[in-house]
Amino acid sequence: MTTQSTRPAIATTGLRKAYGDKTVLDGIDLHVPAGSVFALLGPNGAGKTTTVQILSTLVGADAGQVQVAGHDPSTDPDAVRAAIGVTGQFSAVDKLLTAEENLLLMADLRHLRRADGRRRAAELLAAFDLVEVARKPAAAFSGGMLRRLDLAMTLVGDPRIIFLDEPTTGLDPRSRRGMWQIIRDLVAGGVTIFLTTQYLEEADQLADRIAVLDHGKLVAEGTAHELKRLVPGGHISLRFTDPQTLDRAARRLGEGSRDEDALTLLVPSDGGVRSLRSVLDLLDAEGIEADGLTVHTPDLDDVFLALTGSPTATAGTTAAATTSATPEKETTR
Ligand SMILES: Nc1ncnc2c1ncn2[C@@H]1O[C@H](COP(=O)(O)OP(=O)(O)OP(=O)(O)O)[C@@H](O)[C@H]1O
Ligand SMILES: [Mg+2]
Repeated sequence: MTTQSTRPAIATTGLRKAYGDKTVLDGIDLHVPAGSVFALLGPNGAGKTTTVQILSTLVGADAGQVQVAGHDPSTDPDAVRAAIGVTGQFSAVDKLLTAEENLLLMADLRHLRRADGRRRAAELLAAFDLVEVARKPAAAFSGGMLRRLDLAMTLVGDPRIIFLDEPTTGLDPRSRRGMWQIIRDLVAGGVTIFLTTQYLEEADQLADRIAVLDHGKLVAEGTAHELKRLVPGGHISLRFTDPQTLDRAARRLGEGSRDEDALTLLVPSDGGVRSLRSVLDLLDAEGIEADGLTVHTPDLDDVFLALTGSPTATAGTTAAATTSATPEKETTR
């Protein structure tokens, strides 16, 4: 994560967009400081790609103010385009061309001089580990190689603001980590990243700030830490060897919910060492042995599931509903 200057790279107020009578974006306010990573999360159809398309001049907004790199995409699209790069949700790679040809084509589109284009293409092939396949048609590339080439093409013009729409969807864990490192390196060089993702760990790993979009509205915004605090889902799960021991533990620990079939007891906890120790000390004092133990700290998955998906969900009501649903009574899972 990053050094941030005060001038926002991206700012919107009251951004609206409808397709026919379907409202896709219903008043979106965004503020992305230059040099930071901003992640937009949301379920399928939430409006993430539409937001990226508006910010990157590909689609017009119906209402609201938008500034990207200090320019309004509706009145000054060329100035915005000169400052940004976009890696769309679906690949822009021409599969009939080789990796190198795709990069040179981008260099032409960016009006780089021939020698500069060749130099930039060579740099990017090296940086993205594509030298060996530079002369092979992209049709023969794996999904991960295509994604790397796609991003390399975005970087031909050295954009200061980069939009990445689901940059790691379909990548294996190693390729995903490789892509994260590339993104971190870009940010270290001062680039602003606006990314959308379905992988909450990705937002957790990369983003300075995260916004959650649902039904065209932002239902939460903050750092990963702030968002996790909205959802009190932490607990310690203790497994026992027989119902009697489960029963004794439940009586001693007093609170929590139990699953008789799985012989487990869930005890609310912040997941910290201190609360873990106090639970184990209480069991020890009674000579109660747990057969297994797992600690669950709230993660962005909990936030996502709590804040999105319900037809009438808003941050306030869903967060409150989750609070009252924390284990008090017996539950079977
Ligand atoms: N060109 C279009 N014409 C009509 N409806 C559209 C158009 N583009 C998007 N939509 C609708 O707008 C809504 C938001 O779509 P969008 O692609 O922005 O969602 P998303 O959050 O990117 O979803 P995903 O996670 O599936 O990529 C959807 O209901 C979609 O059907
Ligand atoms: Mg999308």
